Amino acid sequence: MQNIDWGKLPFGYFQTDYNVRCYYRNGEWGKIEVSSSPQVSIHMAATCLHYGQQAFEGMKAYRGRDGRIRLFRWEENAKRMQRSADGILMSRVPEELFHEMVSKAVRLNEKYVPPFGHGAALYIRPLLIGTGVQVGVNPAKEYLFLVFVGPVGPYFKEGFNPVKMQIVRDYDRAAPQGTGHIKVGGNYAGSLFASERAKAEGYASVIFLEAKEKIYIDEAGPANFFGIKDNTYITPKSSSILPSITNMSLMQMAEDMGMKVERREVPVDELGSLEEAGACGTAAIISPIGRIDDRETGQSYTFGKEGEAGPWSTKLFKKLQGIQYGEEPDTHGWVSFVD
Ligand code: PLP
Ligand code: COI
Repeated sequence: MQNIDWGKLPFGYFQTDYNVRCYYRNGEWGKIEVSSSPQVSIHMAATCLHYGQQAFEGMKAYRGRDGRIRLFRWEENAKRMQRSADGILMSRVPEELFHEMVSKAVRLNEKYVPPFGHGAALYIRPLLIGTGVQVGVNPAKEYLFLVFVGPVGPYFKEGFNPVKMQIVRDYDRAAPQGTGHIKVGGNYAGSLFASERAKAEGYASVIFLEAKEKIYIDEAGPANFFGIKDNTYITPKSSSILPSITNMSLMQMAEDMGMKVERREVPVDELGSLEEAGACGTAAIISPIGRIDDRETGQSYTFGKEGEAGPWSTKLFKKLQGIQYGEEPDTHGWVSFVD
């Protein structure tokens, strides 16, 4: 194994020793297979290649000070993947199979789980694809579920330093009644053009608006959005955003800390009154947003002191990471061990 600089890991692909696979054929899931190859061999007419039958999850395994490896709310990822499967007519991965394969992939690559204290974790990528052959637009009859892992640092290179984001109005990530609420690859394809353009223009990410009226904030490319004002945690409610497990947890934690929590439509106009803003997700953790520019209107919004994360975001970030790494009491039963 090469020497890894755990504190400087980017968020990216990292080749580890094993991945875990299971095939769905003839109406049932088969045996779990372990592979040391990063390649997948599939038929050229597989539905994942043509008609987007593909869903994925993003989770992390965290090593505590005690050396033990923790998963955070894996059941929620299992359930979300089932909703994704239902949404585009793929076979569901049973929760127990999901858990067994995730745990196995982590255990087999245990040496890649970053040691405690570097803010790094083992990223877990469960992937479900239609492998059955179709040329007409139909769902496949065969599927592959696989789990690969790799050590990562935070998604945004700024880490817990404020980032700049850009509101776009000439691209939508997802339609109001489309697939925005499930974790399927098509949503990310739809976000690529605007995201890459925003990066080229100096932004960490885009913020998409809800597609119908373009009045309300939806979410960032790879993370949910939240704002804070008057001791209130505010986050968009929309049919076209991914229900983030991190965001769900932050809402609970904010309530536990005595904040008010509002999950509702958040008009762009309201940005001006927010004291703090942030993006949250498994990969992003909490990424404080220092400034948002509206690409079309030219309007700019800034939050808090320049270059500094706000007090509530900092508190929430510490608490969340504290629970995930086993430093804080797990009062809601969110953490389980991979032993
Ligand atoms: N929104 C999008 C579009 C995402 O890709 C993700 C990442 O999974 C999130 C939000 C955050 O979700 P979670 O907190 O469950 O990782
Ligand atoms: C995650 O937060 O886990 C994600 O999947 C986001 C992104 C890398 C697509």
